[in-house]
Amino acid sequence: ALAQGAASSRFGFTPIPTATDFEVHVPEGYTAQVLVRWGDPLFSDAPAFDPATGVTVEGQRRAVGDNTDGMEMFVLNNRNILAVNNEYTNLDVLLPETAARMAAEAEARAAAATTEEEKAAAMDYEVVPASLEEVQKAQAAQGVTIVELLQSDAGEWSIALDSEFNRRIDHTTPMRISGPAAGHALLQTAADPTAREVLGTMNNCGAGRTPWGTYLTCEENFNGYFGSTDPEIELPQGFDRYGIAIESGYAYERFDPRFDFSQNPNEPNRFGYVVEIDPLDPAATPVKRTALGRFKHENAAVTLAPDGRVVVYLGDDERGEFLYKYVSNGRYVPGQSTDALLDEGLLHVARFFENGTGQWIALTPEATGMDQAMIHIHTRQAASAVGATTMDRPEWVAIHPHAVQAYCALTNNSRRAPEATNAGGDAMVPVQGGPNPRAENEFGQIVRWYPANEDHADPAFTWDLYVMAGNPTVHAEGAYRGSPNVTEGNMFNSPDGMMFDSKGLLWIQTDGDDSNEGDFAGQGNNQMLVGDPATGEIARFLTGPNGAEVTGMAFSADRRTVFAGIQHPGGSWPDGTGLPRSAIVAIRRTDNTVIA
Ligand code: FEO
Ligand code: CA
Ligand code: CA
Ligand code: CA
Repeated sequence: ALAQGAASSRFGFTPIPTATDFEVHVPEGYTAQVLVRWGDPLFSDAPAFDPATGVTVEGQRRAVGDNTDGMEMFVLNNRNILAVNNEYTNLDVLLPETAARMAAEAEARAAAATTEEEKAAAMDYEVVPASLEEVQKAQAAQGVTIVELLQSDAGEWSIALDSEFNRRIDHTTPMRISGPAAGHALLQTAADPTAREVLGTMNNCGAGRTPWGTYLTCEENFNGYFGSTDPEIELPQGFDRYGIAIESGYAYERFDPRFDFSQNPNEPNRFGYVVEIDPLDPAATPVKRTALGRFKHENAAVTLAPDGRVVVYLGDDERGEFLYKYVSNGRYVPGQSTDALLDEGLLHVARFFENGTGQWIALTPEATGMDQAMIHIHTRQAASAVGATTMDRPEWVAIHPHAVQAYCALTNNSRRAPEATNAGGDAMVPVQGGPNPRAENEFGQIVRWYPANEDHADPAFTWDLYVMAGNPTVHAEGAYRGSPNVTEGNMFNSPDGMMFDSKGLLWIQTDGDDSNEGDFAGQGNNQMLVGDPATGEIARFLTGPNGAEVTGMAFSADRRTVFAGIQHPGGSWPDGTGLPRSAIVAIRRTDNTVIA
């Protein structure tokens, strides 16, 4: 039987209780310092963040982006250079003046309404940019931030203003398209008839790093940035499967024709990829690696097969989409060119069987009936064609550093609920069974697989569930109680970010329901936990502020600091006044010893 609630000797901390407040909490003997907030200047000529109005367009281009997510630390001569994703922006926070005007207009409409329905309709609106300038502010607030960090003798971290490494990559940064989809007619636009030069990367969710020291940033919900000013347009082929619709959440298309697919129908086909960035060369052009497939990429977990081939695990975070694996043709040899390793290889998709075995199905033209380029443009359709297993929203994959195992967070799935419909871009109502065992899955689970022959490139594997999250307080028994390693003392919902530390402990971050009510009673705010894969034990390490998810983490070069991201906080976190700001916290032991 698994230990219930007791801290294992492998955890260097006493687990903490849940929280429902607007603070970050860490165990006794640890401190958490807020660092790298949205809008913090990267250069001394950038204006300071204004607590009431936030950033200007020009200021945002020279400041930390919004909504921190995946991150990786790169070390050069003991200098700590952090690459971090800025996944999206909350327009009601980014555009406070427009938000206030729209709120006043809605109030006026509601006041003039005569029925409760009209009142409700008046108050049901989304903040959208009101000008090209506001679109540009949103475009500058997202993408990737590269920032050098300094540490004082007392251990406090700060941004190295004006470091030659500091850089912003946003929705307008020039990048190269490489791999099987590069040059294809479906990627050609009037501005780029070569289909090899694109502006920007978007909805940068999880991250990854290569053995050769580059950063991988993963384009997730890119569909939300494209729309059509012509409401009558017929959706181009493949758009529906990716959730690209006439009306977009960001409304860029109203002011920036590049995002209007009635004018530029192929522009959306140039997004949904993994982008490789050299964080130590600020002049390097980022490269979209289409060989890794086109879908709503969560992260990119990279390892090497015993023979030196590069293996990349990739989740497609949508209800009923799939888990993928890329295997390079060539081998990584330190010192030799790596340029082909993420361009030339074979993409596979996972099929899980009830008996605990599984198979990676190669997405070849023979298997899919699609040509090579189309497999990498309509990857979801290719994976459906080979009968891949529909999943409960694959989020991060983490690869065990000492054992040949990998883990994927399957965060939750509302599409098997009785009221679920199949409208709007999702693949299908996902099948119940295998690694997705529950009918209604509001808690999530983590699946683990063991590649055959101790080789991540092998097409066969066996699998089990590392944890099924649940609520043992509300559900004394049954599937919604959760697996035996879930206790009243460590419970959580919706695992999302995951990363192993050097000891082989699995850090788990959550992005779930923080209402602390109903099925989520006693689970509190989103949190970060540490799991021991050897024993199954899980212990709570951090709780985030209410309203936020905890996502993205990295260690300092000396492993005495762990950096963790707080995304979309509520209240006025962390400043205590003014606009809420997504930020990274730096966590150390008070005795400054190694964490992990
Ligand atoms: Fe950006 Fe699936 O999380
Ligand atoms: Ca996520
Ligand atoms: Ca999530
Ligand atoms: Ca998120």
